[in-house]
Amino acid sequence: MKKIGSVVVVMVFCALLSYGCNPKQTALSDKGGIWAVYDRECRKCHKVNGKGCFVGRWIFKIPNFTNTHWQDNASDSRLIIAIANGKRKMPGFKGKLTDEEIVDLVKTCVRSYYPPAKQ
Ligand code: HEC
Repeated sequence: MKKIGSVVVVMVFCALLSYGCNPKQTALSDKGGIWAVYDRECRKCHKVNGKGCFVGRWIFKIPNFTNTHWQDNASDSRLIIAIANGKRKMPGFKGKLTDEEIVDLVKTCVRSYYPPAKQ
């Protein structure tokens, strides 16, 4: 019986994972410009809606870009440095992306979620 219990736990966990991590995805690269970079490099963790998936927020502390309080406390320079150098579970993108791209990702992509995007 114990085994069945753990199988159920694993199944519930997988269901949560796939639900939380796959909100309706639209093609961000259709928006053009820097969004193609977001789509390629950032979307798998931060998602189309900028919120990160449930599990990502919970375990990896992915910030919710649509949170006004978070946006108000996040300066451009802090975010640029975080993207360039990486921050804990987030890899750094220095070398992979140009400085201009990193600045544009903050100013265009991250800030587009503020004020909170309509779902
Ligand atoms: C492997 C998953 C992953 C990828 C890919 C990723 N991030 Fe992150 N990102 C994270 C995590 C996890 C955090 C939370 C870091 C922390 O505070 O511990 C984070 C934090 C951030 C923050 C907030 C930093 C701060 O100081 O609060 C910004 C902005 C950000 N990411 C932008 C991006 C951009 C832009 C890209 C694409 C170039 C990207 N991320 C790609 C996982 C990822």
